[in-house]
Order: sequence, then C-alpha cells, then structure tokens
Amino acid sequence: MKTLLVTGGTGYIGSHTVIELLEAGYRVIVYDNLSNSSIESLDRVYKITGKRVEFIEGDIRDKKKLNEVFTQYDFTGVIHFAGLKAVGESVKWPISYYNNNVSGSLQLLESMNRHGVKTIVFSSSATVYGDPIDLPLTEKTPTGSPTNPYGMSKLMVENILSDLYVADKSWRIARLRYFNPAGAHSSGLIGESPKGTPNNLMPVITQVALGKKKHLYVYGGDYPTLDGTCIRDYIHVVDLAKGHLAALEKCFSSNGVHTVNLGTGQGFSVLQMIKVFEKVNKVSVPYKIVDRRAGDIAECYANTHFAEVYLNWKSKFGLNEICRDSWNWQLNNPDGLIK
Ligand code: UD1
Repeated sequence: MKTLLVTGGTGYIGSHTVIELLEAGYRVIVYDNLSNSSIESLDRVYKITGKRVEFIEGDIRDKKKLNEVFTQYDFTGVIHFAGLKAVGESVKWPISYYNNNVSGSLQLLESMNRHGVKTIVFSSSATVYGDPIDLPLTEKTPTGSPTNPYGMSKLMVENILSDLYVADKSWRIARLRYFNPAGAHSSGLIGESPKGTPNNLMPVITQVALGKKKHLYVYGGDYPTLDGTCIRDYIHVVDLAKGHLAALEKCFSSNGVHTVNLGTGQGFSVLQMIKVFEKVNKVSVPYKIVDRRAGDIAECYANTHFAEVYLNWKSKFGLNEICRDSWNWQLNNPDGLIK
C-alpha cells in the first residue's frame, strides 16, 4: 500500500481529497497545524469512509518535526495543501503569507529532497494568471501578476517547483490551478468551515440564507459582463478532490512538471449564482449591489481540454449540485467545525 503525506489535510479541499485517496486504497498521513481547521474533520472522514488516517499536528515550517516525520514513514508522495488562503488578509499580513506559503513550501521541499521523496502535488490557483487578457484560460496562457500576496505566493511556489525540475529531472510535480472551489461532500459531514467572517462567495451566500447575515453584498454591478457582476468558474470540491487523484497518478507514471487547470469551463455571474442557489434550495438570499472589491477581475474561467486529455479528468457536478451540497452542509453545521 502506498503511503502519502497530506499537508493541510484537515482543511476544506484537503479533507475532501483525503476521502478520495482513502477510497482509492492509499494510506494517508495528515500533517496540519490546525491554524484554520479542525481535527474533527478527520472523524467525519472516518464516518464517511470507515477508514482512519493518521494525524500529526505540525507546521510545515518546523524543520525538525518534518524530518522526524519523513524518517518515520516511507512516503511515496506528498499532496501539499497547507497554507494561508484569505486574499484580503494577505494584503494586511504579507510577511505571514510569504512565511507560511513560500518558506513553508521550501522547508517541505527540502525535507522531501533529503529523504528522496520526489513526488508532489501542489495546490495552486488560477490567480497565477493575473487579470486575463484572453478567455478561457489555458495552461499555455502566460502567468501574470497576481494582485495580492496570496496569489503571488502561489506563483512563487509554482516557479520554485519548475526550477527544481530543471535542476533534477527525477522530480514528479503537479501544479494544479484551481478555479473557484465550492460545494461540499454530499453527506453534509464535511465542507468549507471558514474561521471568522467568510470572504468567498458561497460561504457568504449560505450564511445569508441561514439568516446569520442580513444581506449579501454583491461587489460591483458595472463590470462588462452579461449582468454587470463578476463571472467565475465554480468547481465542486469533490470534483476538485478527484482531480488530485488523477494528477497523482500522472506523477506516478511520468517525471516532469504537470501543470493543469482544474475548473469546469463554464462561467457564472454572482447574480446567476444567487438565482440558482435560491431556486435549488427554495430559500431567499437578499442582496445589495455595492462598489467593486479591490483586486477583483471581471471574468475568469478555464479551458478544460488539457485536463480531459492529459489527466483523463473532467468535472461531473454542476452549479445545482454545488448549491445543493453547500446548503446541506451549512444546514447540518451552522457553526462549521472550527470551535
Ligand atoms: C479568490 C482569489 C483566488 C482564490 C479564491 C478562493 C484572487 C483574484 N482570487 O477568488 O485566488 O483561490 O479566492 O479562496 O486573488 N463576491 C461578492 N460578495 C461577497 C463575496 C464575493 O460579490 O460577499 C464576488 C466577488 O466579487 C467575486 C465572486 O463573488 O466576483 C467570487 O469571489 P470569491 O469567492 O472571493 O473568489 P475570487 O475572488 O474569485
């Protein structure tokens, strides 16, 4: 049985991916500092899969601890989710973001290198493309200038990974560029559990629908789009998780840097999202259109052709399932998992 290290495996995308890995027969060791997640998610994973993962509480910047872990286990590969992810926060605390996301990744890579573990799947983001000139975004679209330290940290790690492969061709690297992850496991047992006030659209929609917030503020109604609101490519987190499995298998079959967009190829506006959510769940989401949010781009969606051909992976769920599962998760866990 192959053993994998999953950093950040208790988080939103991490925990959904752990389920897919367990169901595919991998042994999973989760390494997480629980700074923005709860260990409870692994109990939920157990409820869903009937399989236990081993958990180590630790920080990716902790060299000593990482080396102990790499000495203790014989890993076949690493799936690297650990990092900070709130765009607005990254503008306020750039040092913290570069420290966690860039220094942390470097520390992880150093430990991997020292122990001869040279397979890594890295969670990157479509934010590396910056403000797109041409849509849909293909993997050949040049990377741009992300408008915030969070996005910049993802681009920096992507570049470190490609330099690593130039220097040592035995590495097997996947750089997965996520579009907008949303939705939750259909069991309602795991989902997105943001600490404090959520910033991303779907958690805000579900909190408004639940009555925890009075209104959804729609940031900007004057973009050059069909209804004036921003367009994004929302991908169901379970589809995204399966994309990691496909990327891992690609790494096992060939050395190189495998850079792949994980999106659906379809863009929806903020108002379309609200309408679908209301219709599917038969709830109301009161909203107000307000000023644009700094750093937002008008439109962003993926070309998914390469992922289909190269990874044999394609998203299966649509917006209806995303809205249904997000609501189911929120109803079952009104306060999320973070105590
Ligand atoms: C951002 C990041 C992306 C990151 C993603 C998930 C950038 C440019 N984008 O994406 O890298 O992977 O978060 O963490 O750095 N909206 C509202 N009202 C709200 C919340 C959101 O109108 O209360 C709108 C936004 O203006 C945007 C859309 O909903 O048009 C999606 O926003 P959000 O979920 O925050 O994701 P992005 O900004 O696309």
